[in-house]
Amino acid sequence: MAYVVTQDCIKCKYTDCVEVCPVDCFYEGPDFLVIDPDECIDCGVCEPECPADAIIADNNPKFTQRLLDINTKWAKVWPVIVEQIDAPADADDWNPKKEYTKDKTELLDKYD
Ligand code: SF4
Ligand code: F3S
Repeated sequence: MAYVVTQDCIKCKYTDCVEVCPVDCFYEGPDFLVIDPDECIDCGVCEPECPADAIIADNNPKFTQRLLDINTKWAKVWPVIVEQIDAPADADDWNPKKEYTKDKTELLDKYD
């Protein structure tokens, strides 16, 4: 079992998730966060906190090896984030649960 952050976090970065993680395993990149799957204890409490539904478990149909690889890779590079920060001013414009209607998968390309 593992949880990962998906492309739906990109340019949203609401960071509600980091407030609830008991093991502080979220890492902050320039426009989205990742989970360190090696540190995550699979508690699942972050998943319902995300306003963009950008956190999934590996039994979710949207889960891919690519997402697992990207989360694993960048968690070793980016700094840990343990407190919520202000979301970008245009976060709702990029939120698939609100304004954004397109697939954000190609926004992951620079993180492979
Ligand atoms: Fe943290 Fe639990 Fe979410 Fe894993 S599932 S990232 S341990 S809150
Ligand atoms: Fe991203 Fe959702 Fe956390 S948008 S920063 S995974 S609350």
